[in-house]
Amino acid sequence: MSPNFLPYEIIFKKRNGRRLDRDEIEFMVGGFTRGDIPDYQMAAFLMAVFFHGMDDAETAALTQEMMASGEVLDLHGRFPVRTVDKHSTGGVGDKVSLPLTPAVAACGVPVPMMSGRGLGHTGGTLDKLESIPGFRTNLSKDEFVQVLSRVGGAIIGQTDKIAPADRKMYALRDVTATVDCIPLIAASILSKKLAAGPEALVLDVKTGHGAFMQTLADSKRLARAMLGICRKAGRPAVCFITDMEQPLGRAIGNALEIRETIECLSGEGPADLRELVVTFGAEMLKLAGRVKNSEEGRKAILTVLSNGQARRKFAEIVEAQGGDPKAIDDPARLPAARHVVAVEAPKSGVVQRLAARDVGVASLLLGAGRTRASDKIDFAAGIVLAKKTGDRVKKGEPVAWLHAGDPARIPDGRARFLAALKIGAGRPKKRKLIWQILK
Ligand code: URA
Repeated sequence: MSPNFLPYEIIFKKRNGRRLDRDEIEFMVGGFTRGDIPDYQMAAFLMAVFFHGMDDAETAALTQEMMASGEVLDLHGRFPVRTVDKHSTGGVGDKVSLPLTPAVAACGVPVPMMSGRGLGHTGGTLDKLESIPGFRTNLSKDEFVQVLSRVGGAIIGQTDKIAPADRKMYALRDVTATVDCIPLIAASILSKKLAAGPEALVLDVKTGHGAFMQTLADSKRLARAMLGICRKAGRPAVCFITDMEQPLGRAIGNALEIRETIECLSGEGPADLRELVVTFGAEMLKLAGRVKNSEEGRKAILTVLSNGQARRKFAEIVEAQGGDPKAIDDPARLPAARHVVAVEAPKSGVVQRLAARDVGVASLLLGAGRTRASDKIDFAAGIVLAKKTGDRVKKGEPVAWLHAGDPARIPDGRARFLAALKIGAGRPKKRKLIWQILK
């Protein structure tokens, strides 16, 4: 441990609302990762950050130190165009990364994607991919680079070697009520994301009932914090704030979302999902230097979605990561639930609300997620929406289909789904899909 600092003094300084220097942050993160600084001092430090925040320079230093605590990939100059990744702060039915990665890769831009697992009521890209028989998300660093070079896209998760400081700090935050703190969230997300080596990033900060940040103001604060980190790390980035008041698309649950991904990659599927894939894809092609403007980017993405190239690229990624590529042409090879039951509309009218967080919890209760870290996921479980906000419905008509392997789970899932649903007279106010774009 450096003789120049005492953890006590750094905690004291932040507790009193003063800004920390880079070497003080380095000392705290490095010391904690090595085990020199105990949990109770890091917990006090995190609580001091929770109350007093961090400015851009402090947040960037924190991210940098957390990233440097483990393996970092340098992809600079390896490919003829910049590598670009996308990050979403997570939501319900948010499967955008799945069709987006092969679509962008099919346009010639390598996508080194670092993804996460379901957190709370939200689903995770890694869990969704693992519903494809054989798919491996735990590639080694060398395997990741090999797949990326050969196929153009690879999707992995955090291992023990990537940002170990984040893993340890997140575990402490989880039990000390310090998760919902913007600089800590921004540093946690980007320390992992940047470790996988993308040279540019598209960020998707969700806003609304099913998002981490429920208000537009908080979503903007998180967006600005993440953009500040990317700027200081020299990685060009664009941030979209997008709606998560109701689920994205119609499918919620792992294998069900893979099916919807395949629809999107076949030029079909829900319009909101397709719009985000095309918008983010166009921005990624622009950041990579592959196209001159968004219009050209949109055209390129739409072309690969309609001519089968993006779908073929997805099958290639699946095969390269050990999965069954035939499942992409024949989704019957994916896990399917034994019990599928309708939720019927309790009255006639217009769907006023489908509160995303409650729909996410309903899916969790059907077995699609974990309520404890040790829980086993039922990959086939989840919900398919027959109606979305603004749709007319008649009493007794299906609003959604519940999928479950264990029929005992259906009553709780149904009750929670009904709590999410509001049917009334008149048209609800239409919400935007994309609220804001920040650079
Ligand atoms: N996701 C992360 O990876 N970290 C956070 O702190 C919050 C969401």
